[in-house]
Amino acid sequence: MIQLPSKHSATGNTIFAVMSGLAQQYGAINLSQGFPDFQIDEQLSDLLAEATRLGFNQYAPMPGLPMLRAAIAADFKKRYQVDIDPDTEITITPGATYGIYTAFSAILQKGDEAILFEPAYDSYIPNIEMNGAKAIPIALTAPGFAVDWDKVKAAITPKTKALILNTPHNPTGSVWSKSDWEELADVVRDTDIVIISDEVYEQLIFDGVKHYSVLEHPELRSRSFATYSFGKAYNNTGWKMGYCIAPPAYTQAYRRLHQFLSFSVNTPAQYALAKHIASGKASAVRSMMEGKRNYFIELMKETPFTIQTPARGSYFQLATYEAISDMPDTEFAIWLTKEHGVATIPVSAFYHNKKDDKLIRFCFAKKEETLEQAVAKLKLL
Ligand SMILES: Cc1ncc(COP(=O)(O)O)c(C=O)c1O
Repeated sequence: MIQLPSKHSATGNTIFAVMSGLAQQYGAINLSQGFPDFQIDEQLSDLLAEATRLGFNQYAPMPGLPMLRAAIAADFKKRYQVDIDPDTEITITPGATYGIYTAFSAILQKGDEAILFEPAYDSYIPNIEMNGAKAIPIALTAPGFAVDWDKVKAAITPKTKALILNTPHNPTGSVWSKSDWEELADVVRDTDIVIISDEVYEQLIFDGVKHYSVLEHPELRSRSFATYSFGKAYNNTGWKMGYCIAPPAYTQAYRRLHQFLSFSVNTPAQYALAKHIASGKASAVRSMMEGKRNYFIELMKETPFTIQTPARGSYFQLATYEAISDMPDTEFAIWLTKEHGVATIPVSAFYHNKKDDKLIRFCFAKKEETLEQAVAKLKLL
């Protein structure tokens, strides 16, 4: 058999597949992978059926259906007061993971370096390596998981061509402040660094905190790809739909690759999302998720887990288990799944060097009864 070399350094399956697989195998309640366990808005289901009936069943235009790009531009104008040209700045993608990969691919050449912050979404490093570049991970500083800007300055070399950030942040739930964006602008000003701003959780933001988008910072926007996921905004992660917003020249570079990767994206889903967004009746995911976060934190008070900082955004909550065990986090998460029927994600999985701070991540985007059933099991620990 001819051996096929790997294009990245990650080995085995992603932790999300592993923990969801274990949850299924042991019949555990799955608070590991980030997906809702409740129905999507009925209007969105109806619109998907309508799309197939009306004949939206063939290839969409390469950049995406004009009606969807127009709906996104109008939505951003309303929510962020920014002007985005739907023709030259928005490309519809099959999910944000693809969107991020394609942005890296548009930026990076062999031998380049790309900075990322850890803990990090687990596709970033493989995506950088699959493009022949070197990943430069910088650890965020616990407990608040803030960026140490001196470390960023020290990590920049003439080879640094990309920097990816994620706010609101998976897995910590932290959110960048306005001053983080100013720091970033200062740090990259005299460099050739292009930014990828992973804003998939922009609609999931709590406690009256504001999500600052890179699109609101004209200087940074001119050197950025911003990536989004409909799956996170409309509870339909399985549709794998997203979009990328970038200045016209970057969008051109992006589409040069996109046209030969997927070429176009699921047409009926584009129709449904366009109509749903434009209807103004898309149900408010933010307040619903904030309610779930509050309920989960309240329930967790009856367990021996400690929640240090409530998530400010995303649908994840970190907790420590030091009162229960001193096992390494991955071992603990597997034990919890097998022996106590609740699946979570160990935070070491988000570090290239598997840094273990004895933290696990819970996904609270679940029905109240699911959260109650999980906590009933955790109370017995
Ligand atoms: C930080 C982050 N970026 C990107 C994605 C990918 O989104 P999608 O499901 O649209 O590919 C996720 C999904 O969990 C995520 O947590």
